Amino acid sequence: MTLILAHRGYSSLYPENTMLAFVEAEKVGADGLELDVQMTRDGELVVIHDEKVNRTTDGKGFVKDFTAQEIRKLDAGHQNKSLSKKEKIPLLKEVFEWLMGNSMVCNVEFKNGLFPYKGMEEKVIALVRHYQLESRIIFSSFNHYSVVHTTSLAPEIETAPLLAEGLYMPWIYAKSIRSSGFHPHYRAAPDQIIKQAIDSGIAVRPYTVNKETEMERLIKVGCSAMITDDPLKGVQIRLEIMK
Ligand code: G3P
Ligand code: MG
Repeated sequence: MTLILAHRGYSSLYPENTMLAFVEAEKVGADGLELDVQMTRDGELVVIHDEKVNRTTDGKGFVKDFTAQEIRKLDAGHQNKSLSKKEKIPLLKEVFEWLMGNSMVCNVEFKNGLFPYKGMEEKVIALVRHYQLESRIIFSSFNHYSVVHTTSLAPEIETAPLLAEGLYMPWIYAKSIRSSGFHPHYRAAPDQIIKQAIDSGIAVRPYTVNKETEMERLIKVGCSAMITDDPLKGVQIRLEIMK
């Protein structure tokens, strides 16, 4: 069955990468989450997509220049005028704590392309082990050095390189770096590529799949998961196909 992973939570309706978006994704039946992780100046793991807080919060500046206490004062839901209360940027440990109460899987994307955030992988792995979430976590990154580093530090946890464009025979590449899967942009995942990956035991989890026709195609071809802003639509389409 193709798992439905809510991209930055239920981000088509709720502020991305917030506890609200994660909770709402679970409510509509998402099997898991995709979230982005970065690190504050004082080494706290925080869940946010951009290197700067400007787009998604009421603050300004780079994530790396805030302390945890400072960044937690920002409102990550300020653009959504219908919300009655502030949405803090989640701490990764807060999300993991919440995951303890359900059975969702969680794709943790390391956002370390621009800034390396030295030691971030080690900290995230320690947290995963602390909460004993190893079997429910998939690490990914566009920074493949980070993917390789993570695989070597925690071979018990799944890893997957993120691919933006057409890589030649990506299943062979994934195997060569000891990853169990790859996460392509859905346009870089034609059926033939997905089938060959599946045949060689490599998981394919395309992002960010919001069109119904693409959702149908990827479910029918047998992707392990798909990453979508609209988990409700994904769940409904999968239900229709499985009828
Ligand atoms: O992990 C899939 C997807 O989130 C990668 O791109 O920019 O949305 O983090 P981005
Ligand atoms: Mg992401």
